[in-house]
Amino acid sequence: MEREQMYMAVYSFSRSNVFLTGLVLGAVWIVSKLWASWRSDKISSCKLPPGSNGWPLIGENITFFRAINSTTNHPRQFSIDRERRYGPVFRSNLFGSAKTVVSVDAEFNKYVLQNEGRLFQAKYPSTNNNLVGKYGMVTVHGELQRKLHATAVNLLRAEKMSSDFMDDIQNALSTAMEKWEDMRDIHLQHECHKIVLNLMAKKLLDLSPSQEMDGIYKAFKDFAGALVCLPINIPGSTYYKGMKARNVIIRTIHECIKERREHPEVERNDLLTKLLKDGSLSDEIIADFLVFFLFAGFETSSTVMAFSILFLTQNRQALQELTDEHFALLKSKGNEKITWEDYKSMKFTHCVIKETLRLGNVAPLIPREAKQDIKVKDFVIPKGWSILVFLNATHLDEKYHPEALTFNPWRWQNEDHELSDKAWFMPFGKGGRLCPGYHLARLEIALFLHYFLTKFRWEKLEDDHISYFPAPTLVKGLPIRVYPNSLQSVDGVMG
Ligand code: HEM
Repeated sequence: MEREQMYMAVYSFSRSNVFLTGLVLGAVWIVSKLWASWRSDKISSCKLPPGSNGWPLIGENITFFRAINSTTNHPRQFSIDRERRYGPVFRSNLFGSAKTVVSVDAEFNKYVLQNEGRLFQAKYPSTNNNLVGKYGMVTVHGELQRKLHATAVNLLRAEKMSSDFMDDIQNALSTAMEKWEDMRDIHLQHECHKIVLNLMAKKLLDLSPSQEMDGIYKAFKDFAGALVCLPINIPGSTYYKGMKARNVIIRTIHECIKERREHPEVERNDLLTKLLKDGSLSDEIIADFLVFFLFAGFETSSTVMAFSILFLTQNRQALQELTDEHFALLKSKGNEKITWEDYKSMKFTHCVIKETLRLGNVAPLIPREAKQDIKVKDFVIPKGWSILVFLNATHLDEKYHPEALTFNPWRWQNEDHELSDKAWFMPFGKGGRLCPGYHLARLEIALFLHYFLTKFRWEKLEDDHISYFPAPTLVKGLPIRVYPNSLQSVDGVMG
């Protein structure tokens, strides 16, 4: 009897428990449905930014890619019509997502970038994430991103430039350009890529130019090509080659790590050695960090070097003024190397660099995701939507830069050479992901211009133009023939 009572008690307890659990689950389900429906009502009652979804499946990709690949260097073409119809923040359907908003509003762009990690977060295509790795800088968020960002900023801060980079950059430029004297016909973009990759490999991994570096150079070319492609991982595909290239680079980094552990007595001054000594990051994080760092550091500034020569070839007056500035400096220095003070004194050079970054933007789009519903004027960008900060559009906007498609370095003449806080010119981004390499990039380009202009005159061997697809590049790599510049003039430079 007692057993029966006990059994009944347990039975009724578990029955009431099941009933209660069911009730709670039901209530949770109803509340979550009500919440979801209230949220979607809220979103639909607050208007989405106006815009178009384009064609089924294709969206607006074709129009977009046609604009950024145009021979007239006018990537803003895509946004001109849309801005007129819908305003500077508009809905679109790009890169496979119909939940995309494009912004060509300078102030809103700045707001988005400055609120990284709070209202917005970086969201690069998932193909990128596999290639740059779980811990690549554009893949990580929160605490780890801040730590890696701080490491990069510390390595590349202005004071480090004169002590750690000045001589290495000049040695790399002199060595490469000596070879150009014999080669005569060169693809300038390709040569600039090699110079900067060698420099980055030396500073990050203490690797010297060698046959091994040729392998790494090839791997980086495949890697870069795969960053903007369909993620089809079958032998022969661009993506497959990119993933293979990633493995080559990662293997090289792990070999360097092993070598440092086996031979701690060898003194080195590269970033890898510093990271290993610091000991706070795992090998896996270090390897992904370095892959991204190498890539971000070499592809960008080297491309801008080649762009600057394209623009100068087309503008003799700017070329003459710049050449005069560098021959005056050469005369005052004799055989001495350029110093940080000399670099800061290159007034017109800084104008040329800014104008090249404006007209030939190597980071045309910055992708973000809304972490919560974002109100913009009368519209709402719902949580989870992509926001494309279209820097090229503001950099080529007549409102901010009269005759925006003309290379006019003088427009920067009354500005300090440091970056301003102006929302309509942000070639290095803003906020928590502001490019840590911006001092280095400008120094590399300035020194490149000094060595190139004082050593060579040149003629172009073919017409060339910039394309932003799949990545910013000179389509033919800028083929030129170089001559020694004993005349100290730009005579013979043919645009
Ligand atoms: C002209 C040359 C360059 C341009 C225009 C440029 C532009 C940019 C931009 C716009 C971003 C921000 C991306 C975002 O907000 O999602 C960025 C990030 C970054 N850049 Fe550069 N960059 C250049 C050169 C360099 C160099 C020389 C290095 C290193 C040696 C470098 C390393 C990085 C790194 C590590 C990040 C990621 C920062 C983070 O996510 O925390 N960049 N760059």
